[in-house]
Amino acid sequence: MHKLAQLDHKHVWHPFTQMKDWLKQEPIVIVEGKGAVLRDVNGREYLDANSSIWTNLHGHKHPKINAAIQRQLKKISHSSALGFANEPASLLAKNLVDAANPKFPRSAFRAPRLNKVFFSDDGSTAMEVALKLAYQFSRRTGKQRPKFLSLDGAYHGDTIGAVSLGHIDLFHKAYSGLLFKTDKTPSPYCYRCPHNRAKPERADARDYRKCNWECVSTVEKKFSDQKKRGESYAGFVFEPLMQGAAGMIPQPKGWLQKTSEIARGHGTLLIADEVMTGFGRTGGGTPFASHNENVQPDLIALAKGLTGGYLPMAATLTTQKFFDAFLGEYDEFKTFFHGHSFTGNQLGAAAALASLEILQSQKSTNDRERLETVFSKELQTLWPLKNFGDIRQVGLIAGIELVKDWQTRERFTLAERAGIRVCEAMARRGVLTRPVGSVIVLMPPYCTTGAQMQKMVSALRESIEELFGK
Ligand SMILES: Cc1ncc(COP(=O)(O)O)c(C=O)c1O
Repeated sequence: MHKLAQLDHKHVWHPFTQMKDWLKQEPIVIVEGKGAVLRDVNGREYLDANSSIWTNLHGHKHPKINAAIQRQLKKISHSSALGFANEPASLLAKNLVDAANPKFPRSAFRAPRLNKVFFSDDGSTAMEVALKLAYQFSRRTGKQRPKFLSLDGAYHGDTIGAVSLGHIDLFHKAYSGLLFKTDKTPSPYCYRCPHNRAKPERADARDYRKCNWECVSTVEKKFSDQKKRGESYAGFVFEPLMQGAAGMIPQPKGWLQKTSEIARGHGTLLIADEVMTGFGRTGGGTPFASHNENVQPDLIALAKGLTGGYLPMAATLTTQKFFDAFLGEYDEFKTFFHGHSFTGNQLGAAAALASLEILQSQKSTNDRERLETVFSKELQTLWPLKNFGDIRQVGLIAGIELVKDWQTRERFTLAERAGIRVCEAMARRGVLTRPVGSVIVLMPPYCTTGAQMQKMVSALRESIEELFGK
């Protein structure tokens, strides 16, 4: 075993990992990356088919982001946001505000203007900030016991507030004693929806579902039940267009707009977790997924792709109205009491500025559109295999749900570890990704070439054939 792998085994504790399994085999030790390619310590190359856990946007070692960080390094790496402003964080805040306020059609429901940015470190803290802001804001505007509604299966991070908003029993049960209660409403999971009366087809379940938007009626009922109790939810929390860690569950077109209007009608704040969906991931030409449905949230949480996947930095965007609710005399203590040592980190902000500039270039827009088409074409080739139950693509994210037989939608059991085994077989073919249960995630960096895309999908197909036959 390589010396670095030995050191890892001896000392490193990996996230969301059963370490007993981890210690059974030599880990892949990544030492280099370029574009969509990762290289390990033994010189073997792999395609980064989940963009290093959904963070990388434009590829590794991107010359423009590298140069921006190097320029910043020559000035300063970090100074505190407690008491001081800094150059790249000020510029980045302005650029994020510009990107987060597109022109909405007149029909869009009262689009608030997002013009304040609170920086933090990662997706969990961006959501924790959104939650704390919404909680305080609600208390200050008349709600004594603010309550939140989020989606079944939701994952919003690992800090206690973010976990409280989440509804994945497998992860969250372990902390139940530490959490506060939030309500949940089913997510519109068309493939396994109890209201979808359509038989399985060889197509994305959103396209052949037979229903009457019962998922929207359920949300409506949640709000009206709350109203009957003389209350309304403080915030409606969602991942727009696609729920990630829930199992790459996409929303049928129109769901977000309909449910957002219901929430707004009840005076409820919209809190969008765009940690995964942000920065062009969901296509449609807009940086943020909510805007694809003409929904403007009151709070947007951003992380992962913010720095192009280079550095841990996050941001929570909100409105002047929120900001004003925290203004007061020093001894009124209306201050937002929250912050991190690395808030507004200068290296992170420099990387984020460069990443945003690349994202907004015509070249990147064209490349993403082209890649999306190739991606879609490649994914279609998977339908003939019996173990692919649903193939759901939103922009440059795909979730491919493995089943025992597509005609019955029968699930693999957890003990069968189907997703993990498929990803191990893909790694043997030089393609790295990580499953969410039995859902294989493909989320290529935007610089992925057609040939690389083809390889990612064929590695998946061959792995399925190897493990489960044709
Ligand atoms: C939608 C969403 N929100 C929040 C998080 C938490 O982000 P982080 O791991 O950066 O804390 C994740 C992480 O996967 C996520 O997918």
